[in-house]
Amino acid sequence: MDLSIVILAAGQGTRMRSRLPKVLHQLAGRSLLEHVCQAAAGLVHRDIQVVYGHGGGQVPAVLAHLPVRWVEQVEQLGTGHAVLQALPGIPAGGSVLVLYGDVPLITAETLQRLVDASRASGIAVLTVELDDPSGYGRIVRDAAGRIRRIVEHKDADGPTLAIREVNTGMMAVRRDLLERWLDRLDNRNAQAEYYLTDVVGHAVDEEIPVASEMPQSRFEVMGVNDRIQLAELERVYQHLQARHLMAQGVTLMDPARFDLRGELSVGTDVQVDVNVVLEGRVSLADGVRIGPDCHLKDVELGEGVEVLAHSVIEGARIGAGSRIGPFARIRPETELAEQVHVGNFVELKKSRVGRRSKINHLSYVGDAEVGRDVNIGAGTIVCNYDGARKHRTVIGDEVFIGSDTQLVAPVSVGDRATIGAGTTLTRDAPAGELTLSRSEQRTLKGWQRPRKNH
Ligand code: UD1
Ligand code: CA
Repeated sequence: MDLSIVILAAGQGTRMRSRLPKVLHQLAGRSLLEHVCQAAAGLVHRDIQVVYGHGGGQVPAVLAHLPVRWVEQVEQLGTGHAVLQALPGIPAGGSVLVLYGDVPLITAETLQRLVDASRASGIAVLTVELDDPSGYGRIVRDAAGRIRRIVEHKDADGPTLAIREVNTGMMAVRRDLLERWLDRLDNRNAQAEYYLTDVVGHAVDEEIPVASEMPQSRFEVMGVNDRIQLAELERVYQHLQARHLMAQGVTLMDPARFDLRGELSVGTDVQVDVNVVLEGRVSLADGVRIGPDCHLKDVELGEGVEVLAHSVIEGARIGAGSRIGPFARIRPETELAEQVHVGNFVELKKSRVGRRSKINHLSYVGDAEVGRDVNIGAGTIVCNYDGARKHRTVIGDEVFIGSDTQLVAPVSVGDRATIGAGTTLTRDAPAGELTLSRSEQRTLKGWQRPRKNH
């Protein structure tokens, strides 16, 4: 491994005012640390270590799936001390790239430029110019523009505080140099911390030039310290995603009212109305249209599918030409074939529905197998649960189920059967016949409505 990446994530994040360690807070459905790891993974020949500490084992436990090595910093004695914890795990002869776990929008391109810039002398820092540099370490340069030192805000005098070029915290350093300089760190400063930034002074003392790079956009180097900054970066990220999708040919009725918390793949001429939230893995084929106020998680919509306003779909595959909603709810493990219609106030769960079947109004269908060309009338309920277990219902092809029917599972309805309105079906209904259960209708002649006495 030529490049070792060390991600610092041991700090407390007091200003989040949360029980959750800061780097576990989410941006676009993924933790801050996962965003940083993803950028890091974009670099070649790398190995990643994450320094964690505050919040104990919570961070490595929650993110155990990440392809990184976890290093504990028991006490948070400063950024230099944090890097020192990872040093034994860094092979000799390579370089080290230091990142922060709470700076989520950094890109692999910028990091590659930083690493490349460090090749000549052995050290490069990522800096940025800010209108308001307060709180940051200032980049002090000499008259020739060479970096001399990084001075922390709390250690800076008046003229230094006026400097607008600041340290982002990210740097690339040759491992042998880093080891030598970390060895010399002390904590004689305003915060009594071991500052990683002091390695810059040590480089200058040895007359080793300190290179620098700047990011494409300042949002790449913005950290999250509180929930206000988290919300700001969320908007920035969503805006970037929205622009990317529009460039791919997606129509977003309002890119400011679109949220993607996961991965989206799209065909041509997909149209998304306002306030749509997409989560997990979502795939929208050619010509899909999604109405306003819909929530889709882990779904696959076939060509030309139309989802009307206020629908919620999770864990489902929906065949081409189907029409869903408005106000439909489709729950996990549901598969709809082509041209299925699911209308308002219909809930589907763990069910398969065949081609051209319609469930248009006020129904619940769970744990069911529904054939093709079936019509399920308004108010039909599949009673799939007996209080202890779930049971299956099977409905054949070309079945007509009258309104307000209850199908008490396990039960099956044969092909082309008709079920009369209001039936409570407790036994299988044979194919091709009309089955119904209904109490006889009576009229009480001369009956009088009770009257109120005033
Ligand atoms: C640091 C830099 C400062 C820079 C700023 C950018 C130093 C001394 N200062 O300051 O020049 O402008 O970042 O945001 O490096 N961390 C640990 N262990 C520790 C201390 C910190 O893992 O013992 C981690 C934190 O979790 C965080 C990062 O290091 O991700 C930076 O720590 P923070 O305390 O925010 O540094 P600043 O004081 O802001
Ligand atoms: Ca910080």
